[in-house]
Amino acid sequence: MALEQRPVGKLDRAVIFLGPPGSGKGTQAKVLAGKFSIPHLSTGDMLREHVANATPLGCKAKPIMERGELVPDSLVLKMVADRIDRADCRHGFVFDGFPRTVAQAKYLGEMLKRQGFKQPFVIHLVIGHTLLIRRLTGRRTCKVGGEIYNIYDRPPKVEGICDNDGGELIQRPDDREEVIRQRLLAYDKQTSPLVQYYRRLGFLHEIDASKSVPEVEQEIVQAVASIRGAR
Ligand code: AP5
Repeated sequence: MALEQRPVGKLDRAVIFLGPPGSGKGTQAKVLAGKFSIPHLSTGDMLREHVANATPLGCKAKPIMERGELVPDSLVLKMVADRIDRADCRHGFVFDGFPRTVAQAKYLGEMLKRQGFKQPFVIHLVIGHTLLIRRLTGRRTCKVGGEIYNIYDRPPKVEGICDNDGGELIQRPDDREEVIRQRLLAYDKQTSPLVQYYRRLGFLHEIDASKSVPEVEQEIVQAVASIRGAR
């Protein structure tokens, strides 16, 4: 049986997608979480939901996200801790966009240890900046189910409409070129030190994210299959 068709068991750990904006974290995290039947936890999606509902957290986060900067750790950490505490996370989960600072990674490490999870597995999506601009300016997301498209490389069958549920496809407000540049700067300055942090701990697995979506997916499934059962 082909590796990607084999039934997959429990992970009992956090899988963390680390990579710059547009590297494919959301696209791949969704698929992997589906394969293991564990939750896909995107801090970006959670924050956007708070913004849409105009919660106190959302009101604080909105202008920061519009500028392409990182939301302060003090706001993000509580949101994540509350989410992990929910019952559906007890066999593991896939993080997309978290942690994003060394302080967040240290907090997460302590929390996972306390809750008895195995060591996290970090997938570092490696890709140059030039490809990212095209991916981000071309991205469209389904308003209903969150499916991710790209008008250049992954277009829907009918323009502006989701293939899966007929939902309207929208462009994220932070996918304008000037905000993208700020997001890339924030990644380089605040998030890229995590590569070294997790490499030192021996948790890092690098994947060439410039390949096609199915190729990247296959490499990730193989990498994750290789650690199943390990502490
Ligand atoms: P967030 O929503 O996490 O955005 P991001 O990290 O900037 O990442 P993106 O969602 O833009 O890209 P992605 O890597 O998921 O790529 P995707 O799969 O969509 O965060 C938004 C904001 O929230 C932040 O700026 C910050 O303000 C705040 N925030 C969130 N988490 C935070 C935290 N922990 N701490 C503080 N602040 C936080 O793919 C992109 C496009 O490329 C799509 O069109 C897709 O179809 C296409 N594509 C994907 N893979 C491929 C491929 N292999 N080949 C060709 N095209 C591809």
